[in-house]
Amino acid sequence: MKLGSLKLRNNLIAAPLCGISNRAYRVLCKRYGAGLTYVEMLKVESYLHHNRKTMTLKYYREDERPIGIQFAGNNPAWLAEACKQAEDEGYDIIDFNMGCPVPKIGKCGAGSALMAYPDRAAKCFKAMVDAVKIPVSVKFRAGVNDGNLNFIQIGKLAEENGIVACTIHPRTRQQSFAGQADHSRTAELKAALKIPVIASGDINEPDFGVKLLKTTGCDGLMLGRGAWGRPWLFREITETINHGRVVTPSPTAIERLAVLREHYELLLECFSERHACQVVRKYATWYIRDIKGSAALRGRFSRVNSRVEFHEALDEAMELYEREMSRDNQSQSDPALAAVG
Ligand SMILES: Cc1cc2nc3c(=O)[nH]c(=O)nc-3n(C[C@H](O)[C@H](O)[C@H](O)COP(=O)(O)O)c2cc1C
Repeated sequence: MKLGSLKLRNNLIAAPLCGISNRAYRVLCKRYGAGLTYVEMLKVESYLHHNRKTMTLKYYREDERPIGIQFAGNNPAWLAEACKQAEDEGYDIIDFNMGCPVPKIGKCGAGSALMAYPDRAAKCFKAMVDAVKIPVSVKFRAGVNDGNLNFIQIGKLAEENGIVACTIHPRTRQQSFAGQADHSRTAELKAALKIPVIASGDINEPDFGVKLLKTTGCDGLMLGRGAWGRPWLFREITETINHGRVVTPSPTAIERLAVLREHYELLLECFSERHACQVVRKYATWYIRDIKGSAALRGRFSRVNSRVEFHEALDEAMELYEREMSRDNQSQSDPALAAVG
């Protein structure tokens, strides 16, 4: 897929995700087949003020390319300045967030709240596009609420102002994350625009991703929650696109724990040991969710406070599953995995 001048190796993108899409997450998504990953959404004011938290959040390394950054804001001049700085900092693409429903962003008139002000949104698009040579994309929702579903209008304004691609998460701002994403809206947007349209929302299984590509005509898929603790979802979708089914078996419990180990080590590249422990607790929950006895393990991981403690917990879990596997080595399936969907 091409996003303006940026050519990607495929059409699968790892969503920008607040609190989630740090370097560790991005490296693993890329390893398993994401064609593009993003730093989580940054408020334009925080980015311009170089506050300490933002410095950590925007951290990336060369091995992550292509790498995108995403801004939320509603002030065209600030957004233009942020885009210039992001270009200088070497990002390959900039995304403009018009999808975030959280009050902290909405009360500043940014994120999905900006969808209620199309003229202002258009000014932001133009200011950002004019400020840089790298491509600028936008991500938005279906509208503010069911009474104002203006995603086609916003998409057309984006296209007219030089935005290279639109990602739609087809829920309304009012819906937040409730209900299902209505991808008939993705199809409508695709039919209305010439620039690439990327679908986001509820892509949790490979078959669903492939169905979306076919039924909506969308150009790419952006994976969010489906890839939490399951970065191999990118590989599974790629295989389903290429071969009509998942070819590589789903990782065993032991393999999942090995990915968790690597995830933690990668977290240490961007966070202090203590912070990495706090962050890895939630990832651990996701990696082990399909594993037999995960409740007890969750408790174990939720208390880790140092690298040593993390590795002790992981080693115990590994030993447990190695014993289970050798006990049941007649079986073709992984005995440690409980009803993996
Ligand atoms: C915890 C969380 C954080 C998110 N952070 C961002 C973000 O920083 N930028 C963004 O564009 N979308 C963000 N989203 C929205 C996702 O990118 C995605 O559009 C949405 O979750 C629907 O896709 P999914 O069902 O695949 O998760 C976030 C969603 C969640 C649940």
